[in-house]
Amino acid sequence: MEAPADERNLPLTLPATLGVCPRCLVRLQDLVSGQRCPKDGAFLVSEASVEASFGEPFLGAQVGRFGLLRVIGRGAQSTVFEGIDRDSVRCAVKLVRLDPLQELPEPSALIAARLENEARVLERLVDVPGVPRRLEFVHSLGGGLPAHVALAMSFAGGAPVGNEVPEAALRSWSKTLLLAHRHGVVHCDLAPEHLLLATDGTTHILDWGCALELGSAESPRGFHPSYASDQLLAGNPADTHFDWFALKRIVETRVESGKASTHVMGLIAALATANSIEQRLQAKEALSEVCGLSAVR
Ligand SMILES: Nc1ncnc2c1ncn2[C@@H]1O[C@H](COP(=O)(O)OP(=O)(O)OP(=O)(O)O)[C@@H](O)[C@H]1O
Ligand SMILES: [Mg+2]
Repeated sequence: MEAPADERNLPLTLPATLGVCPRCLVRLQDLVSGQRCPKDGAFLVSEASVEASFGEPFLGAQVGRFGLLRVIGRGAQSTVFEGIDRDSVRCAVKLVRLDPLQELPEPSALIAARLENEARVLERLVDVPGVPRRLEFVHSLGGGLPAHVALAMSFAGGAPVGNEVPEAALRSWSKTLLLAHRHGVVHCDLAPEHLLLATDGTTHILDWGCALELGSAESPRGFHPSYASDQLLAGNPADTHFDWFALKRIVETRVESGKASTHVMGLIAALATANSIEQRLQAKEALSEVCGLSAVR
């Protein structure tokens, strides 16, 4: 419905976003990204962010070159923030709590090693579309903050895969996996919350902390068992079919079976279950072609 003529002529005023210091709760009109509290130097955040994460000690803190503005995800030992640097570059910062008192089920060294592994993998996959770029790894936060390690990476827009799995998104995740596998990296922990899809169709695969070198006999820790193949659960050497099995299962648990039987799904299923090497190579070549990649044997 069109607004009455007198209202249409009014200047457009957007609601001002209040900048709030998460430490002293001082409020400043008109939040500017990267602005700091004049009293204690914390990064100002939005009112909504303070309300959503009240008492979060890292809100507004500086980690590496990034200010932490909003909590965007939480795991068993980690909190993921939206962060910003001096040039207003938006990023995601994953902070992992270490446990000097050894009260957590996993020792600190293992927890830190997983994040370091993720940082190394992101660096290795820097050319692969759909993998966040590594920006900074911070070993020690300093400033009296509790013991954490942190990984800053490029911000991936979108939401975790829902009950609709567009074919284009499935192709795009498959392309990321095919390229990661060509670099000798197996993700080992595909789960719905690690498959992001944005409204413009851009996709990302997150959380490469469990990733292993193809053929590695190491057992990944902390992966989602609901999407793991028997071979992954049994501790078999890392194989690309771990990822195809998980992707297949994720789609099958979300989409009615009739709608899930598409050409791309058929190829993913073949990669997850094919018995012979020849069948797998054929399926890989066909999927590469569908994803616009040249075939590599
Ligand atoms: N680069 C990113 N861009 C945007 N959002 C992200 C990014 N990384 C993580 N997130 C958000 O944070 C959530 C948790 O991230 P992630 O799965 O990497 O951490 P985690 O599961 O807590 O880690 P771990 O499995 O190592 O304990 C994701 O589901 C996503 O919503
Ligand atoms: Mg995760």
